[in-house]
Amino acid sequence: MQTRHAAIIGCGAIHTCHVDALRHVPGAVLRAIVDIDSEKGSRLAADYGCQFYQDYREMLLDDAIDVVHICTPHYLHKPMILAALAAGKQVFCEKPVVMNPQEVSDIQAAATIAQRHVGVCYQNRLNPTSLAIQRCIEEGRLGAMRAVKAVLTWSRSGNYYAASPWRGSFATEGAAC
Ligand SMILES: NC(=O)c1ccc[n+]([C@@H]2O[C@H](COP(=O)([O-])OP(=O)(O)OC[C@H]3O[C@@H](n4cnc5c(N)ncnc54)[C@H](O)[C@@H]3O)[C@@H](O)[C@H]2O)c1
Repeated sequence: MQTRHAAIIGCGAIHTCHVDALRHVPGAVLRAIVDIDSEKGSRLAADYGCQFYQDYREMLLDDAIDVVHICTPHYLHKPMILAALAAGKQVFCEKPVVMNPQEVSDIQAAATIAQRHVGVCYQNRLNPTSLAIQRCIEEGRLGAMRAVKAVLTWSRSGNYYAASPWRGSFATEGAAC
């Protein structure tokens, strides 16, 4: 089996899902983590038995790293994706991949030039309800699709927004078109 080495940039709330997922992928090895918080990052790296970097650009110099998982705030995704592609890495980025639709074409162009893949973490596509809806559509049970309206009701308390300063702002979360 071929071994693939991964690095994770951003060790906040979601990164533990990536650590856990990598443990379940045969041949995958977590080689490095990156965070601007050196105290947290060093502690986690010791727990995971991997290297720690405070600057993702230094991590990208490691030729042994095949894939970079990006788990930072939205506004950092694009520069980190472009840097990882330029360094010859495959990329797996948390959603939303970018801040606005215009940034998508820059990333697609960079991936084409680098001949690398950019995957986006849309894990809810595999939820049982999502798969059930997909089956209904594919089996034609809903007839010809004319339009789709989806409503997702999630509750986010004030604590969620207070926990990370980038949350809840158009400048750092995007979507202000
Ligand atoms: N797929 C999902 O369902 C899902 C769920 C939660 C979050 N997310 C996404 O994951 C991303 C991160 O969310 P979160 O809740 O983990 O955020 P968070 O604020 O909890 O963690 C972000 C981490 O990135 C670090 N960071 C910030 N700038 C950095 C830099 N320049 N270099 C290295 N590290 C840096 C911070 O120190 C922090 O540890 C967001 O884009 C979010 O939308 C996706």
